[in-house]
Amino acid sequence: MSKARIPLAGVIGSPIAHSRSPLLHAHWLKTYGIRGHYIPMDVEERDLERVLRTLPAMGFVGVNVTVPHKEKVMAIADQITDRASLIGAANTLIFRNADSILADNTDGYGFIENLKSGAPNWRADAGPALVLGAGGAARAVISALVDAGVPEVVLSNRTRLRAERLKEDFGHRIRVIDWVQAGSAVKEAALLVNTTSLGMTGQPELTVQLDGLHSGTVVTDLVYTPLQTNLLNAARNAGCVTVDGLGMLLFQAIPGFERWFGQRPEIDEATRAAALK
Ligand code: ATR
Repeated sequence: MSKARIPLAGVIGSPIAHSRSPLLHAHWLKTYGIRGHYIPMDVEERDLERVLRTLPAMGFVGVNVTVPHKEKVMAIADQITDRASLIGAANTLIFRNADSILADNTDGYGFIENLKSGAPNWRADAGPALVLGAGGAARAVISALVDAGVPEVVLSNRTRLRAERLKEDFGHRIRVIDWVQAGSAVKEAALLVNTTSLGMTGQPELTVQLDGLHSGTVVTDLVYTPLQTNLLNAARNAGCVTVDGLGMLLFQAIPGFERWFGQRPEIDEATRAAALK
């Protein structure tokens, strides 16, 4: 029998029962015949550092981090990638040993790769991107869009101050507009991204005016419950290319899986089906 340790990974959050990541990673582990496990872990904030320092000794090679710990782990990590630092949050930790936790953020990567996959004709230089929302998810989206070369990000958030803060961090290519003005920016946008929780099952609907949508607009929603949000339905009816939010969840998981288990996973229909089980 091999003496090699079985690699363990997982996702830490609270609550965690709703997370689709265990289904996704279990699917990849099985597909590639890797002897490893990926475990959901409900950890409270006061236990977070102790848990993270203990996991490597138990055979963990890393973990994903989700709500509400994405910012807190930045203060615990020993090293932080540039992109995690820019976003101010981490979703992927790599354990080299108990005293070497590397914090990375792959949400922006997941967003842009999902966009390229779902809308292959989208070009960063096609025009402004209208981003709705200025929370943690928006930070990852905006960093990816700026990095991809979008000429302007028009940012609209209910709480304008949060959008202004984002502009301070991401610079001159961000233009903040009032939440009530969001509808008027739709027409000029080559890309429309909803990063708010509006439209999610159990949340209010997005009420931004969408009359300006046309066949040249690419529309993507980070909400993936339901998979076809009212925003995406309206966009499809207007002839837009639409990209659902499940793909971002799948693509953001690729770098972690590859680092932990030594195999770059592919995303196909079976992957989507596994995550939706
Ligand atoms: P996440 O990390 O997923 O982005 P978040 O930081 O809580 O989560 O951000 C949620 C986003 O949805 C914010 O942009 C929030 O707007 P505020 O900054 O004004 O809170 C937005 N949001 C949530 N409920 C909303 C509502 N009823 N109307 C408009 N925006 C809403």
